[in-house]
Amino acid sequence: MIYYFSGNGNSKWVAEKLSFLIQEKVLNISNFILDCRMPRSAGKYSSVGIVLPLYAWYVPQPVIHFLERLDGMISPSAYRYVICTCRNYAGTAMERLRRHYYFDSAWSVIMPNTYIPKYKIDPEDVAMSKIDAAEKRLLDISVNVLECKKGIRDVRHGLLGLARTYIINQIFVNHIDCKLMTLDEEKCTGCYVCYKTCPMGNIDMVNHKPSWKDKCIACMGCVNVCPEEAIYYGKETAHRRRYHLDMLLSDRKRR
Ligand SMILES: Cc1cc2nc3c(=O)[nH]c(=O)nc-3n(C[C@H](O)[C@H](O)[C@H](O)COP(=O)(O)O)c2cc1C
Repeated sequence: MIYYFSGNGNSKWVAEKLSFLIQEKVLNISNFILDCRMPRSAGKYSSVGIVLPLYAWYVPQPVIHFLERLDGMISPSAYRYVICTCRNYAGTAMERLRRHYYFDSAWSVIMPNTYIPKYKIDPEDVAMSKIDAAEKRLLDISVNVLECKKGIRDVRHGLLGLARTYIINQIFVNHIDCKLMTLDEEKCTGCYVCYKTCPMGNIDMVNHKPSWKDKCIACMGCVNVCPEEAIYYGKETAHRRRYHLDMLLSDRKRR
């Protein structure tokens, strides 16, 4: 079984690719978080994979809480692995995560940038070459997973991993601010795509317009997915191009 969490489609894509390669089912962690429940069948699987994105060199808090509860539900003999997706570096996220959730092996997979408040999106050729490289990497990972290889830590740490994962992550979490979510009412067509995309169920639709509650994890899903680019997170995003994997891949298919 593969459980995944995804704000912008990258980790979902990784989970689904891997699912095809190893012929295992995928389940979206977001559904469990939204319904405040746990996957009751977790104990029956002999292999349990987790695919998740890193936001500021660590795992989003609601996902940690889910994994802490999942930890005790998995069969003691099961093979357990984690794949984190990030735009370049993971810091010491996997080491920190292992204090909350046990796993035998871990990999990082580099995917296009989604954090548009700080960095521009990758140019299309760069994004596509990351996706091609990820596809090849997943082939290797799938072989290791099928052989239940233990002790693998194939994660790109980058510089100052500890400081980024512990200190900068804490600053990032403390500064997440739902009030920075802004809607351009003129542009918004009330299509509900943001509402359907939010992995935290943090959007209410009021008169067919999004209104944000207080559970935002700053994943940028709603900002990136809005077809009218009507949603901003702070001033920086107003003029930034958006990225969403499904949109990138469907644009490419159309051409
Ligand atoms: C709030 C936020 C913070 C991020 N921080 C990092 C980071 O610390 N290191 C990194 O390499 N990528 C970072 N990224 C990029 C994402 O980890 C990467 O694009 C990931 O594949 C997104 O997965 P998703 O589409 O499943 O949400 C960040 C993205 C967001 C939205």
